[in-house]
Amino acid sequence: MEQDDTKLQFDPNGNLRHLLSLKNLDSSLLTELLDEAEGFLTAPGALPTRSRSLAGRTVGNLFFEPSTRTRASFDLAGRRLGADVLNLDVNTSSRKKGESILDTIYTLEAMQVDIMVIRDASDGVPAYIARHVEDHVSILNAGESDVSHPTQGLLDLLTIRQHNADFKNMAVAIVGDIQHSRVAMSASQALQTMGIGELRLISPPALAPDADKFPGATIVDNITDGFRDADVVMALRIQRERIGNLDGIPGIDEYFANYGVSHESMKLAKPDAIVMHPGPMNRGIEIEGALADSPRSVITKQVTNGVAVRMAVLDRIGKVMSTR
Ligand code: CP
Repeated sequence: MEQDDTKLQFDPNGNLRHLLSLKNLDSSLLTELLDEAEGFLTAPGALPTRSRSLAGRTVGNLFFEPSTRTRASFDLAGRRLGADVLNLDVNTSSRKKGESILDTIYTLEAMQVDIMVIRDASDGVPAYIARHVEDHVSILNAGESDVSHPTQGLLDLLTIRQHNADFKNMAVAIVGDIQHSRVAMSASQALQTMGIGELRLISPPALAPDADKFPGATIVDNITDGFRDADVVMALRIQRERIGNLDGIPGIDEYFANYGVSHESMKLAKPDAIVMHPGPMNRGIEIEGALADSPRSVITKQVTNGVAVRMAVLDRIGKVMSTR
């Protein structure tokens, strides 16, 4: 994320126009978005919050990589705010006939799609599109290569804040394939902005990140150091789709024994530590299934928070649109 891309996220009045990355967003904006998201949450079993703040607007979901949670929650978030939502089926779209991504975007722009939610496997695609759309169109990054997943970072931050809002006195441990994880990147950016006490990134050496990309984090290769007295443990899957060569990556049994988040390994963390996972999960590889289903798991809460966070982002962008 270049400095120019950070500026690209805001309109001339300083309002959030595109959400491309959490890098360089300040703590007051993050806090406002989390507070707005809290306002959209309802009790389990209650009807979801609805508003008409996006009535007349159209949200287009363009997912050039698979997704369950992010796509479904942007779809629900848009509808619950009164928008029309278009889910482009990429596999049957004219992208398959060689149409460029920009021509696809221009086509949807001509159909008055106001907010485009983009997931893509290549670095820089959301910012590239944001530079080319008309002034009244907003771009939301729904997952960009191994670089950025800002709404995931926000929902993870909200879930951690619900457990303990005292970021400065907390230790968060993220374990797994950190090297290829946009989830780790966005969570790390958000947590550092909020002044996290300790952020530990744990992975086998073959999946260790470039330390320069995670300033302020402690990078370790074992859970004994990584999980000790942690308040939060977040498991990540191995991103096989981004790994050309699996050499050096432990087999399933060895991986689970050394890096798996389980009832046994969680004994190292604080007794009330929560267990997170962005999904999709591989039970028995990076996380024990029984732990994922246990009371200390907040994995389904993360999903619920995902809808609320996406509503907060869409609502804010829609309100700015209506003032133009
Ligand atoms: N966490 C996440 O991005 O999940 P999906 O790939 O299902 O959207």
